[in-house]
Amino acid sequence: MVKKLKELPFKIKGYLRIISLEADSLNYKVYLVGGIVRDIILGRNNLDLDIVIEGNAIEFVKSLSEDLGATFIKHHAFGTATLFLKDLKIDFATARKESYPHSGALPKVKTSSIEEDLSRRDFTFNAMAISLNKASWGKILDFHKGLEDLKKGVIRVFHDRSFLDDPTRILRAIRFEQRFAFRMDIHTLNLLEQAVRLNAIFWINEHRVRDELILILKEYRPYGHIKRISNLVGFQFINRRLKLDRQDFLLFKRIEKALCFYRENFTKHERLEEWIVYLAGIVSKLSRKELEIFCFRFGLRKTERRIILSVKDSKRKVLRLRDNTSKTLLFKSLIPLSPETIIFFYAFFKDGRIKARLVLFLKELIHIKLKIKGKDLKKAGFKQEKEYSRILNKLLYIKIERNLVTKRDELKELMKMANCA
Ligand code: CTP
Repeated sequence: MVKKLKELPFKIKGYLRIISLEADSLNYKVYLVGGIVRDIILGRNNLDLDIVIEGNAIEFVKSLSEDLGATFIKHHAFGTATLFLKDLKIDFATARKESYPHSGALPKVKTSSIEEDLSRRDFTFNAMAISLNKASWGKILDFHKGLEDLKKGVIRVFHDRSFLDDPTRILRAIRFEQRFAFRMDIHTLNLLEQAVRLNAIFWINEHRVRDELILILKEYRPYGHIKRISNLVGFQFINRRLKLDRQDFLLFKRIEKALCFYRENFTKHERLEEWIVYLAGIVSKLSRKELEIFCFRFGLRKTERRIILSVKDSKRKVLRLRDNTSKTLLFKSLIPLSPETIIFFYAFFKDGRIKARLVLFLKELIHIKLKIKGKDLKKAGFKQEKEYSRILNKLLYIKIERNLVTKRDELKELMKMANCA
């Protein structure tokens, strides 16, 4: 592993050396663990540094933060701390073993050795560590044949209760399977299916399920992930009657294309929260009431909730755009919607006329604003301030219809309005 560590970005190597020195001086054993070890071996970029200390991680981070002049936060209950460096954050944990008071609950934590710490983890390839102490720098600890599984592309749990102890692992297994194009070994797949049959996913707090689902939808091209969840688990954890069919999967393909179209053609526009467009697709068949319940139970943020509901509420309005409506009506119909909602509709409607109107809005209208302000109205002699917003709106629609570009053009129109008033 020494060679692999050498290949890490300069900045990361520097921090690991400092951590190594600090651990040696405090006589602690220190390890890089989990996903970063897996990704170092696979040669994939990963800046999520997870460090485990055989010793007191909070004391360690306190001392390190003083040396580096960095800030940190600590969680006494878990024996963990996060160090915030200028351009990076590093998570530290005291080596621990976990026991689950009941399936799906958050674990009870007790300090232990690195071996026990690795033995509580999800899959063999996530249960390896790399030693960072000087005397054993780069030595790999692999008690569960993780390296072998990683080379073979196999996802394997190493204790039969893994999915039951922590059912989020059902979704994690699918995420890694699809991300790396790995396969689950047959015993692991059987255990996963058994956990699904026991409805294990319903045992966990819905916010944890939401977080896992969002991680999945944020994966590069989540189509395969969604299909696999649908086949292996189902989406009843969102709503008991939710079942995806062929039409839904055709929609996800179109969403994938639509997002790509947006990324390539609207490089100067705001970047989309792409995951929510997929989520809107997954839940699109639910009724408004069911959507409201889903947003509430899953604790979606206000903006996320708004997107999910606006997809339901605005379908008819967007459908009407296929009749060659005026630019003003196009603007009025779409300006309240988020770009994510608009891209959802671009994917949802197959009618080329609607697509063209949505593109016209994104290209020409979405950023249109008046150059003149209330003070220009005052100067032009409009006295009633409570009328300003109506006048400015009227002027905005004139600007849209007549393609006004400069402030002078706007002022000219304003003067016409003043003379008519
Ligand atoms: N882990 C676990 N069970 C879970 C979640 C995490 O055992 N339900 C362990 C695994 O060893 C994992 C590590 O904690 O590697 C870090 O978890 P996390 O940061 O969530 O995932 P990564 O494996 O780093 O994956 P990703 O690349 O998606 O961040």
